[in-house]
Amino acid sequence: MNRTKIIAGNWKMNTTVERGLSLTKEIEGIVKDEVTNDAEIILCPPFVTLASMTRLLQGNSRIQVGAQNCHQKERGAYTGSINCEMIKDTGATYVIVGHSERRQYAHEGNGLLAEKIDLTLKYGLKPIYCFGETQVERKSGEFVKVISRQISESLFHLSQEAFSKLVLAYEPVWAIGTGETATPEQANEIHAMVREQIKQKYDINTAERVRILYGGSVKPNNAQELFQQPDIDGGLIGGAALDARSFVEIIKQA
Ligand code: PGA
Repeated sequence: MNRTKIIAGNWKMNTTVERGLSLTKEIEGIVKDEVTNDAEIILCPPFVTLASMTRLLQGNSRIQVGAQNCHQKERGAYTGSINCEMIKDTGATYVIVGHSERRQYAHEGNGLLAEKIDLTLKYGLKPIYCFGETQVERKSGEFVKVISRQISESLFHLSQEAFSKLVLAYEPVWAIGTGETATPEQANEIHAMVREQIKQKYDINTAERVRILYGGSVKPNNAQELFQQPDIDGGLIGGAALDARSFVEIIKQA
């Protein structure tokens, strides 16, 4: 199955608007000059940068823009929150849902994430749904059960058509920002397991079409061996996405 790879940069709570726009221009410039593959490129800056970034990129089909989160309610008295309609209005096309830092610090669980998934789809946004186990869950052997619940409880209420709009990202929590990466084989094993679970629920076509990214300390020097794995369809990049040169070097390996 030939799946177009995706390289998404998650800037997390870094970059001002000014820094974000200059980083975007820098990435765009190097991509134009040096990237020859057809990988999809997505940048996910903080909310406040979304609108000016989509304006800056207008007419550039190569780089798409995504939000890092959205609220689970459509609108109302939720002080300080950002809904899917607002994200859509900025011109962004993707939303990261269920990042482990949201699960950990904002206590977002599978059920709540299912609500977020529904709203992103309702507003025509494409969710990048993150899942992955903690260090303790990996060591205890619980991880297979944990991951399978993250997938089924947040996603399996969707129709096959809705499911086909998703992108998934396996991000073992113990590998995020730690410099410790899953080995390519370890990561691929999980991707293949999730693909099998999707096949059981929907069908083989749905399972083979969905793109599953890997995230967790992806760097220019380990990207290639990860992306060469048959079930790994690109990466969700944190730290290395804040440096234009490193990010583009990762895109080139896709
Ligand atoms: P990292 O972050 O590349 O800095 O490990 C990945 C992520 O959290 O998406």
